[in-house]
Amino acid sequence: MKLLHGGDYFPEQWQTQPETIKEDFAYFKQANINTVTVGMFAWSILEPEEDHFNFAWLDQVFDLAEENGIKVILGTPSGARPNWLASKYPDVLRVNSRLERNLFGGRHNHCFTSVNYRERVRIVNEKLAERYGQRESLLMWHLSNEYSGECHCEQCQSAFRHWLQEKYGTLEAVNQAYWNTFWSHTYTDWQQIHSPTEVGEMAVHALNLDWRRFVTDQTIDFYLHEKAALQRYSDDVPVTTNFMADTEHLIPFQALDYSKFSQVVDVVTWDCYPAWHNDWESEANLALKVGFINDLYRSLKEQPFLIMESSPSFVNWHDVNRPKRPGMHQLASMQLLAHGSDSVLYFQMRASKGSSEKFHGSVIGHVPPERNRVYQEVATLGQRMAELDGLVGSMKQSEVAVYYDWENDWALQDIQGFSKTGMHYHRTLHDHYRPFWQQDVNVDVITKNNAFEGYKLLIMPMVYLHSEDLLEKIQTFVKSGGTVVYTYLSGMANETDLVYEGGTLAGLQDLLGVIINETDVYYPSQTNQLLLGDATYQVHDYATVFERTSAEAMAYYGSDFYQGEAAVSVNHYGDGQAYYIGARTGDDFLATFYTDLLEQLNISSNSSTKTSQDVSVQTREAIDGTVYYFAMNFSNQLQSVELSPNLVDVSTGQEVETSLDLQAFEVKVLISKT
Ligand code: GAL
Repeated sequence: MKLLHGGDYFPEQWQTQPETIKEDFAYFKQANINTVTVGMFAWSILEPEEDHFNFAWLDQVFDLAEENGIKVILGTPSGARPNWLASKYPDVLRVNSRLERNLFGGRHNHCFTSVNYRERVRIVNEKLAERYGQRESLLMWHLSNEYSGECHCEQCQSAFRHWLQEKYGTLEAVNQAYWNTFWSHTYTDWQQIHSPTEVGEMAVHALNLDWRRFVTDQTIDFYLHEKAALQRYSDDVPVTTNFMADTEHLIPFQALDYSKFSQVVDVVTWDCYPAWHNDWESEANLALKVGFINDLYRSLKEQPFLIMESSPSFVNWHDVNRPKRPGMHQLASMQLLAHGSDSVLYFQMRASKGSSEKFHGSVIGHVPPERNRVYQEVATLGQRMAELDGLVGSMKQSEVAVYYDWENDWALQDIQGFSKTGMHYHRTLHDHYRPFWQQDVNVDVITKNNAFEGYKLLIMPMVYLHSEDLLEKIQTFVKSGGTVVYTYLSGMANETDLVYEGGTLAGLQDLLGVIINETDVYYPSQTNQLLLGDATYQVHDYATVFERTSAEAMAYYGSDFYQGEAAVSVNHYGDGQAYYIGARTGDDFLATFYTDLLEQLNISSNSSTKTSQDVSVQTREAIDGTVYYFAMNFSNQLQSVELSPNLVDVSTGQEVETSLDLQAFEVKVLISKT
């Protein structure tokens, strides 16, 4: 098994220059490229007219790939429909939330419910599977591309109503779950239910949540429809689609609940585009965000994932699209492997000549490979990746987990109250992850679908939307010896965003040994203090005022009307313990708090000492017990780090000193001697 190196390739754009395609394959081989992903946006060339198919160009790609020992990931074309299809079947185009039907254009502009769209997709997918399903070089099916978006057409409205009927059974149950007597919103007929829209209803939080759940389910249903069409001829090849992250902070993609979607893909794959060398944060801080999101996507299936797209240098859709500086490509790509990827695949293998992505980074650009630094850096990475085949399939062993939940995220975004500008769920997640990343402790970022057993420490930041089922899992975890940490804004609402009686889920208060009475908030310039022993830390944005029933106080508030009351507490529960951090603090408090817990729980780190927290050491463990250490320097200075004895540098085959030097932005991969 090999690590995959390659990516999205669009030979359909070069049909008038067939020699270019041949040359490309020669360049791919030279750069240790072993995989190409093709077909994603090729519908108009695959089926130029309804029911007339043209496979000659794709046959040639398979032939060339096979001649060069390259594997093919075959995309289905549903991410962008051809013009003739939209003209003949106008209902395939999306209706936006203002209820206007879009014109033809762009991609991802189709309705996942449309009967006509589903039928045309079934036909083209079946044809592809019939022709290529048994090709030796076919590695995987890549369905569509980055499923996303929603449609508000009549077919979708009726599917949504049906979905609600299945979920609630009666309208009374919907009205109750939505608290619909508020503002006289009671439904008296199923037909009155409509998707949330700025020209209608946006204020019913449970409706908003259900609509997002429905969009996830409808997208998954479309994915399964695509998959079924392939499986008639090809049921032994893994099937996946590529997930995404949102914004330059690499937060989990918001439009779909991937904890659900991941259950139907054979392998999680995703597209990672950090804005390296930006002017608002250090490389190390961005690397931490890259670490977090990869730890989440790896944990979705608790197995290695694939990076389906990344840029060999720059993208075209950030505000400033800055090329990676020399060496950064290796470091950034190795970090993806370090967090559990079995691939580094790119968008794109060759830059297009026209249209919107012509200036996006690519392996083969407009400047020929011989004088193209990007191509050369890709080739160097290819050589290093070829030394790491033993990594394939290896996992990270983590004793710490940070909890994330899409539904909670959606509910927090809807909250009308507290400090809206100071909500910062994602920043808080990163803040609670930081002490571990900086101390080289492996972390899984898990969701409600993961098993909690096996972790020593589970961190639950801002779990506002908190089901009884989740509580039961947490109770079992803590009773049997686990340590859990909750924060302010936890356990307030159920799955339809109805507030629990008393303000907080009773069983959660019992677990934490506290009774929560009030949530205080601060304007950005206002603060309080948290007093822990002799130290004083700053509190900002959020502070909870609570009484203790069985918990012990660990830290106290320094001022305001709750001065002297507990700000942080710990409760012994079963064989474990439950901490409550009532207020938002800076990194200083969290570093102290978690360092103490790491020591107390005897949680191991991948390094002992290091000259800077900008150095990250991550590990993966192969089935044969070999441990891979990735020592990565995200600073622009020479650093050193102390690792376990007896490690061998994979590139040189030499045993290294326990104190390892890393040049600016250098990455070394070491293995434990078996
Ligand atoms: C991805 C997309 C690719 C390409 C890339 C550019 O989101 O899947 O097709 O557009 O972005 O960075």
